[in-house]
Amino acid sequence: MDVRVVDHPLARARLSSMRDARNDNATFRAALRELTLMLVYEATRDAPLAEGPLHTPVARTVGYRLATPPVLVPVLRAGLGMADAALNLVPEAQMGFVGMARDERTHQPVPYMESLPESLVGRPVFVLDPMLATGGSLVRTIELLTARGADDVTAICALAAPEGVERLGGSGLPVRLVTASVDERLNDSAFIVPGLGDAGDRQFGAV
Ligand code: PRP
Repeated sequence: MDVRVVDHPLARARLSSMRDARNDNATFRAALRELTLMLVYEATRDAPLAEGPLHTPVARTVGYRLATPPVLVPVLRAGLGMADAALNLVPEAQMGFVGMARDERTHQPVPYMESLPESLVGRPVFVLDPMLATGGSLVRTIELLTARGADDVTAICALAAPEGVERLGGSGLPVRLVTASVDERLNDSAFIVPGLGDAGDRQFGAV
C-alpha cells in the first residue's frame, strides 16, 4: 500500500496541538481543520487535470481544473471535523457520509449510517477519519465503498498506528493512505500510543 506521511513542519505543529491533553475542544477542532487542509493538499498532489483556454485581463492562457473531483466521505463522528476543511479545498467535490462506531469492548466497528452516491465507479474517493487504530473501521468503510464500485480510495487520517496500516495494506482493498504520523503502537484498549486520545471526544465531548 502506498503510504504518504506528511511531515511538513506546519503539519507537525498542528498535530502536536491535537496531541496536547491541555488543549480544549475548540483548539483541537481548529488544529484538525488546519491539518486536514495540508493532508488534502498532499492527497491531491498527483490528481489529473483538465485543461481549457481562458483569458486573463492581459492575455490568453491555459487554465486547469481537477479532471475528476473526489467524493469526500467523512466517517462519523470524528471525521465530521475534517469535512468542512476538505470541502473548502476541493469545493467541486461531492460528499457522502458513513457512520461507524467502534465497540468499546470488542473494538469491532459497528456501521450505523450510510449515505453515499449509488455508484462510485470511476470516481476517486477520499475517506476522512482522524484515526486509523486497529483499521477495523476503515476496512469496513472501504468495503461499503467498493460495494458501490469504488476502486480508487484514499484514506486521509491525522494519525495512524502501525497495526492499522498493516491491516489496511493487507486487506487487498484499493486504498492508499495519507497521514501526518504513523505512531508507535496500540495499547491494550486499542488506543494509539502516544496518539491524541479519542478524536471524537476531543472535538465534541464524550458520549
Ligand atoms: C474512532 C475513530 C475511528 C475509529 C478508529 O471512532 O474516529 O473511526 O475509532 O478505530 P479502529 O481503526 O480501531 O477501527 P469511534 O468509534 O471512537 O467513534 P466516534 O468517531 O463517534 O468518536
